[in-house]
Amino acid sequence: MLGTWKTGEIHDIHQDMSQLTVKVITKVLFGVDITQMALEIGDALESILLQYYHKAQTSFLLPSWVPTPGNLRANRAIEYLNKLVIDIIEQRRESPQDDLLSSLLLAQDEDGSQLSMKELRDEVMTLLLAGHETTATALTWTLMLLAQNPEVAQKLASETQSVLEGRAPGITDLPRLPYTEMVLKESMRLYPPAWALSREVAQDCMIGPYFLKRGTSVFFSQWVVHRDTRFFDNPEQFLPERWQDNLELNLPRCAYFPFGAGPRGCIGQAFSIMEATLILAMILKQNYFKLVPDQAIELLPSITLRPKYGIKMILESSNL
Ligand code: HEM
Repeated sequence: MLGTWKTGEIHDIHQDMSQLTVKVITKVLFGVDITQMALEIGDALESILLQYYHKAQTSFLLPSWVPTPGNLRANRAIEYLNKLVIDIIEQRRESPQDDLLSSLLLAQDEDGSQLSMKELRDEVMTLLLAGHETTATALTWTLMLLAQNPEVAQKLASETQSVLEGRAPGITDLPRLPYTEMVLKESMRLYPPAWALSREVAQDCMIGPYFLKRGTSVFFSQWVVHRDTRFFDNPEQFLPERWQDNLELNLPRCAYFPFGAGPRGCIGQAFSIMEATLILAMILKQNYFKLVPDQAIELLPSITLRPKYGIKMILESSNL
């Protein structure tokens, strides 16, 4: 990707990051290279997320089979993704490899039977969608924040350039890129890719002064908690340095929870931090971004927190 970037070009950085992370996740987990389809997958996902956002706003008034233009677009997108995922599964069935998908093909249900095609499809779809859109959004907001805070970008570029000295980063470099990781943490505090989660109450209970009846839906939002002054000084400010000296260990549990918590916490946390740190280091070692002036940057709080109109940036060579 970086090889195709040229100084002075304008890029929608959200589109670039989505295409990149979809390529990474399909290659890493399923051993397939879907470079050609990365754009179509991004578009399909966008139609589904837009429709989900629209439905959440209109309280799910109409079921998804009603042929509104949005429903039709989203249903077509779901069909496209289902077919793509089934093709990936069939491809791997014919030629097993040493990857996650081949292990899923051998996996067994509680009753000892093999997973059905629908179960396999659902597993692969979850990993494909949960495994790329979140990381892409995290990288997008990070690059925006860096463009808005040039002194942080400068410090980050100094770290990557002095550690890497021009070469590509590898896994052993991770411990030597602490500032890069702090930048990511701080970006996910202000712009958590998963901005709200929900649970259904399993049994009648009290939480603080509130009585919650079994079956009630409860929503809790990273966006809100991460900006609470009880836990973070100057919460609206982008300050990666706040994470030095182990802030995370000193916070109450769930004051910072971009990856959720408990038994349903994210299984991709370590992977995505590794991936995002390496991508950021790789980008920042030779590039610098400016935001295209006067563009509208708005939030689209769908399942993930996306920029509604993408984020346009002008590429420049790093001047360090
Ligand atoms: C910055 C990147 C990521 C963020 C912010 C993120 C966030 C989350 C959150 C908040 C949850 C919990 C949902 C809930 O409690 O209802 C979750 C679950 C999950 N994540 Fe991630 N995630 C990221 C990357 C990934 C990656 C790379 C993968 C796959 C390789 C992945 C796979 C999953 C799966 C399978 C679950 C469901 C776990 C379960 O229900 O047992 N995620 N993620």
